[in-house]
Amino acid sequence: MTIEHRYQTSEQWLARALKTIPLGSQTFSKSKTQYPYGVSPYFVERGEGSHVWDADGNEYVDFIMSLAAVTLGYRDPDVTEAVRRQLDVGVIFSLPHRLEMEVAEAIVEAVPCAEMVRFGKNGSDATAGAIRLARAVTGRDRVAVCGYHGWQDWYIGSTARNKGVPQAVRDLTHTFAYNDLGSLQVLFDRHPNEFAAVILEPMNVTEPAPGFLQGVKDLAHRHGALLVFDETITGFRYEIGGAQQRFGVVPDLATFGKGLANGYPLSAVAGRADLMKAMEEIFFSFTFGGELLSLAAAKATLAKLRREPVIEMLKERGARVMRGLQALIDLHGAAGFLGVAGDATWSFVTIKDAAPYTSWQIKTLFLQEMFARGILTVGTHNLCYAHGEAQIERLMAVYGEVVPLLADAVKNGRLDSYLRCAPLEPLFKVR
Ligand SMILES: Cc1ncc(COP(=O)(O)O)c(C=O)c1O
Repeated sequence: MTIEHRYQTSEQWLARALKTIPLGSQTFSKSKTQYPYGVSPYFVERGEGSHVWDADGNEYVDFIMSLAAVTLGYRDPDVTEAVRRQLDVGVIFSLPHRLEMEVAEAIVEAVPCAEMVRFGKNGSDATAGAIRLARAVTGRDRVAVCGYHGWQDWYIGSTARNKGVPQAVRDLTHTFAYNDLGSLQVLFDRHPNEFAAVILEPMNVTEPAPGFLQGVKDLAHRHGALLVFDETITGFRYEIGGAQQRFGVVPDLATFGKGLANGYPLSAVAGRADLMKAMEEIFFSFTFGGELLSLAAAKATLAKLRREPVIEMLKERGARVMRGLQALIDLHGAAGFLGVAGDATWSFVTIKDAAPYTSWQIKTLFLQEMFARGILTVGTHNLCYAHGEAQIERLMAVYGEVVPLLADAVKNGRLDSYLRCAPLEPLFKVR
């Protein structure tokens, strides 16, 4: 099949969607900005386990897994059954439901910092709630951030995508660099007694240097700020208790989202009871906070994480992917522009400029070749429990073809002859 035919329906639907939906997508990371036109699918029709089928019927092993929201797999039978049972009882009521306590209790049991819990829908609800809580408790306005923390004003104003965020809000959020305590110290020196919170992803691409996370905690506390771990992705993935369990540093508050309910929309703020109690004094409240299909999904997901070796599998298989890819990169002399980073459960293919090519040109070729071979990735390995031996072998077989192709394209100056589309435009990136 020619590449044009492979994505024909996707492209027709994209043109149609763009007439009624700005960007054609609800999520920036799923939008056309990330997928080179002509060599990419744009719509998924259905999923099963770790596989998805696009609008043209092409099958893929998915290593994006709905931006790491799905940790067990699409249509996990236990989660689906729990949701079906809940559908028969009701989706949402006029008063709270028992499931809210049950899932809060399961989180308290799993997560070291969690003594009390409140739910939201998106990760951004949870991070915005944690920051409002920290501001209320400390009586301070400034926030130090490191990583990605969602779409709301308080955070996104600190990035290049800050259009529409008032300057007065932007002025209150300060970025610091991961593994660089000095960059955080500078902020405290510049604005003594003004920081309400330090919020960071405890890890994304790079491992924390020895003592870094504890150092952030000590610095924050010395300066009267709360420590918030944004565990939207690391939560229920690195360990059942998240990165705080893995690295042994317990924050004051933590936020969760993606892995909590195997793709159903649920997020959470959790933390010390004395702090969480102040939730009663701020406003953190939404119509759908106690929506029950997602809570039923979360209860089933958390039970499965406890009952089955889910996280061990993610670690073991993810480590094999990282080792195998690194070996291929070394074998084909591609280490100058390709690398592997992150944690086994959530790892990244890193791509650097290699003259005369930019990383964006190389990434475009990488995506073109991965999609053509039935692997859905944006350079991530977001492992799920349903990625079995066969799926890992298929990924490694594809890398066995794509890494030498990239090496040839870059080292022999042949990238343009391989590329069948315009390269991606440089994108807004926060990690
Ligand atoms: C670390 C982190 N924090 C916060 C968010 C925001 O979550 P959401 O997109 O569900 O609002 C994300 C989403 O990618 C994330 O990865």
